[in-house]
Amino acid sequence: MIFELNEEQIAIQKMARDFAEKEIMPYARDLDEKEEFPWEILRKLHSVGLHDLAVPEEYGGPGIDSLSYSLIIEQIARGCAGVTVTSSANGNSLALYPLLIGGNEEQKQRFLPTICEKGDLVSFSLTEPNAGSDISSIATTARKDGNDYIINGTKCFITNASYSKYHTVFANVIDGSGTKKLSVFMLEDSMPGIIKGKKEKKLGLRCSDTAELIFEDVRVPKDNLIGKEGDGFKLAMKTLDMARPSVGAISLGIAQAAFEAAVEYSKGRIQFGKPISHNQGIQFMLADMATKIEAARLLVYQASWLKDKFYKEGVPFTEKAAFAKVYASDVAMQVTTDAVQIFGGYGYSREYMVEKYMRDAKIMQIFEGTNQIQRIVIARQVLA
Ligand code: CAA
Repeated sequence: MIFELNEEQIAIQKMARDFAEKEIMPYARDLDEKEEFPWEILRKLHSVGLHDLAVPEEYGGPGIDSLSYSLIIEQIARGCAGVTVTSSANGNSLALYPLLIGGNEEQKQRFLPTICEKGDLVSFSLTEPNAGSDISSIATTARKDGNDYIINGTKCFITNASYSKYHTVFANVIDGSGTKKLSVFMLEDSMPGIIKGKKEKKLGLRCSDTAELIFEDVRVPKDNLIGKEGDGFKLAMKTLDMARPSVGAISLGIAQAAFEAAVEYSKGRIQFGKPISHNQGIQFMLADMATKIEAARLLVYQASWLKDKFYKEGVPFTEKAAFAKVYASDVAMQVTTDAVQIFGGYGYSREYMVEKYMRDAKIMQIFEGTNQIQRIVIARQVLA
């Protein structure tokens, strides 16, 4: 096994790191405080080619490998997880995977080049008030009407819902016998009947937009159905497999930022006449933080590499994607909590960034499949 990045990957990692330090870090606190959507940073990410990362070159994307994609996400998240989720975890990867893996050529050509050229956002409209972990409870319906479907329902906790130009929507087509067939549709935001609902006030990722989406008799041409009627559940599962290494990469970026802050602070904070880093109690905490981040990084990089094999050759990697997501997000929560502890009272103050890292880390254990769901996925593979 070769544990080395190639020259291109090192260059792309550095570029993303520099971007985060120059264009994101100086603004991260303010965006969080004001709960302000990071439009300007998104435009810059788009202009330097660090947006639309999952899209292959033939459809207007950068066509980079999935490990490079994760390296970028990790560095951007070291700057701000809210910006990262806005740009990549939902807007242009998660939301586009159903189209990338289930759409036909005409659909890919119709949507992807324009989305990539303009840097448009796309929402992944799966979750509903009564269908979070349990996707089979989705209540949104798609009724057939001639050559169209009429979509009705309410989605919640949708990232970028307020600003997306397109929505990847999961809805049940109900046939004459009453059988529900979960299916996926591409909706354009301009279609009549799409209503933007309540915006969430969140613990973390405060600059990212999370809102309700309501569909009232939205008429969608049948050409916007991705795959076949009934493909929805499997497309959702495969999409989530592909997206989970990215959650791992964002978690890594958050953990790394908190760790670096804790190391720095411990060297400068004098108590009892010496830096607190001279105390073994602090040293052991830092050593555990470093070890866990490194282990998480190996799992995330491995899952990212396997993601390409899945995309190109169809090799399943469900368990490895879940390993990366569950472990890296748990590590992010532990490391950020320990960083706050090392900062003591100052860590609890908004004067320092570690409290933000801790708030941002929490959602990583919840979205794109809670860590309890990840453990179900892993246990099923272990016991199969
Ligand atoms: N790849 C391909 N197919 C899969 C699959 C996978 N990873 N997982 C399951 N399937 C297939 C199964 O093979 C099965 O196929 P057959 O019917 O042909 O046998 C079918 O799908 C049903 O599978 P299960 O019986 O395993 O399904 P289940 O109802 O028991 O559910 C679950 C399994 C793992 C709990 C699943 O419901 C799940 O992952 N839930 C979590 C949902 C989730 O992640 N939600 C997050 C929302 S998105 C989000 O959070 C975005 C955001 O905010 C930013």
